[in-house]
Amino acid sequence: MKNADFLTGITTSGTPHLGNYVGAIRPAVKTSKDRDIMSYYFLADYHSLIKNSDPKLRKQSTLEIAAAWIAMGLDHENCVFYRQSDIPEIPELTWILTCLAAKGLMNRAHAYKAVAAQNVETGQNDPDKGITMGLFSYPILMAADILMFNARKVPVGKDQVQHLEMTRAIAGRFNHVYKKIFILPQVVVDENSAVLSGLDGRKMSKSYNNFIPLFDTQKSFRKQIMKIKTNSLGPEEPKDPETCTLFSIYKAFATNVQTKELEKRYQEGIAWGKMKQELFEYINEILKDPRQNYSELIKNPGDIEQILEKGAIKAREFSVPFLEKIRKTIGIQSLST
Ligand code: TRP
Repeated sequence: MKNADFLTGITTSGTPHLGNYVGAIRPAVKTSKDRDIMSYYFLADYHSLIKNSDPKLRKQSTLEIAAAWIAMGLDHENCVFYRQSDIPEIPELTWILTCLAAKGLMNRAHAYKAVAAQNVETGQNDPDKGITMGLFSYPILMAADILMFNARKVPVGKDQVQHLEMTRAIAGRFNHVYKKIFILPQVVVDENSAVLSGLDGRKMSKSYNNFIPLFDTQKSFRKQIMKIKTNSLGPEEPKDPETCTLFSIYKAFATNVQTKELEKRYQEGIAWGKMKQELFEYINEILKDPRQNYSELIKNPGDIEQILEKGAIKAREFSVPFLEKIRKTIGIQSLST
């Protein structure tokens, strides 16, 4: 098995939503079909331990997210599609990297800093209240995910860029201290559609609970679109597309020409009700067939399990010998060879 040209993961702590689709699933599906690219896509279930301690939710989320990727057309025969926890080499590499990663580097991680800042803001006397070592050192686990397959490119949302910088720093440290083994991975951010706005206009995220599920009944999907917050401008009043959530969602799906046309209609003052209905119809058409595939898949978890098990076998064709090489490099090896 070859190392990864492209690699990305999705944390299994919620229901797949539109933001996940445009940010991670869609680009992955496209690349998964390319015969000239070796791509690795995985369900980051160890990452989900950081924020969520509900076993049922984790299992359900793993099922839903796997089904979503497959329903959307991921070519799991051509790429390597697996579950993080099926690759025991990843946690082993995590420890090796933990012993190289500077604590000062982790102190600067946004994810950890945001929680600490919130503690200070809310008047807690301990800024580290509720912060686990899992949250604190999460960028190291992510570095291990990436470096385990010596990935060249990592497509992620903007919020993950810092983690990629940290991965590069840690890989560079390993290469310097021991031997040049790791490729320094590059981050790939799709400027157009990587971060989608949610119902309230903030980034669509399970943490804000402002997301639109990717696979819902048609009726609930329409309801969600209708719930998106707009301003109080009336029909025929010109509207600003740049600050509009409806527009940003449309743009994430449409071609450049379609987006330009809609921009014009905003200037002409399209009514919010009409815009919402059109947005619903437009995206619903795209989701119709995948929705059908998804509901079939969800009913057959054994089939998904088989796909993931096959993926783990492929992934380990790379990770087992590569970890062996890493172990030798650091002097953790048989005494008789
Ligand atoms: N931390 C990423 C997120 O929350 C998910 C993730 C885990 C990931 N490991 C990764 C992404 C490795 C890219 C590469 O979105």
